[in-house]
Amino acid sequence: MQLVSPSLLAANFANLEKDIDMINTSNADWLHLDVMDGVFVPNISFGFPVLEAVAKICKKPLDVHLMIVKPEKFVKQVAALGAMMMNVHFEACVHLNRAIQEIHDAGMKAGVTLNPSTPVCMLEDVIRDVDMVLLMTVNPGFGGQKFIEHSIEKVRQLREMIERTGSKALIEVDGGVNKDTAVRLAQAGTDVLVAGSYVFGADNPHERINYLKNL
Ligand code: DX5
Ligand code: ZN
Repeated sequence: MQLVSPSLLAANFANLEKDIDMINTSNADWLHLDVMDGVFVPNISFGFPVLEAVAKICKKPLDVHLMIVKPEKFVKQVAALGAMMMNVHFEACVHLNRAIQEIHDAGMKAGVTLNPSTPVCMLEDVIRDVDMVLLMTVNPGFGGQKFIEHSIEKVRQLREMIERTGSKALIEVDGGVNKDTAVRLAQAGTDVLVAGSYVFGADNPHERINYLKNL
């Protein structure tokens, strides 16, 4: 069994209410929200006005993924949304230990995200403090990209680190998740699958969410 966190980035932005209704009535566990600043990643997605509107109508816990520089500046604003999880990038956060504490103090779960080029071993000193590690399985910034194969090995390495250290962190993966990659990711040891285009691009998104959940 996997937790499933569909990524709103692949939804129809001209009619978000319809797509959020689809999520609300599905077996999805969370809703994944991708915030981009055009600096940390070469794209801009949406910001707080959109997140606030989404938070009002979404009945699933919010899994917020900040692809922005200095994400710790926004802890209070993300908490005010009622977010369940705040994911910050390892590469964007100089004082990661403090950021994790601040996220916890604000009442949220703390996730640390790794770009594809950042090795799992960089987490050795925070793995016991985080609630989740989000492994990017594409370079962040865009939906619909090709899965990076080396990610499978990183999931295995992270699973080994979690078991060795007694960490309670969940393993979430994000990018290029589809029918085929999802099976292999789940076998390698993931707990949470993010999927954008695979879910929102489907004629029957509920069926795809159920497929991912049952892996
Ligand atoms: C990419 C985002 C992802 C994106 C995934 O930077 O973090 O959450 O929506 O899209 P797919 O599932 O289409 O690769
Ligand atoms: Zn994401």
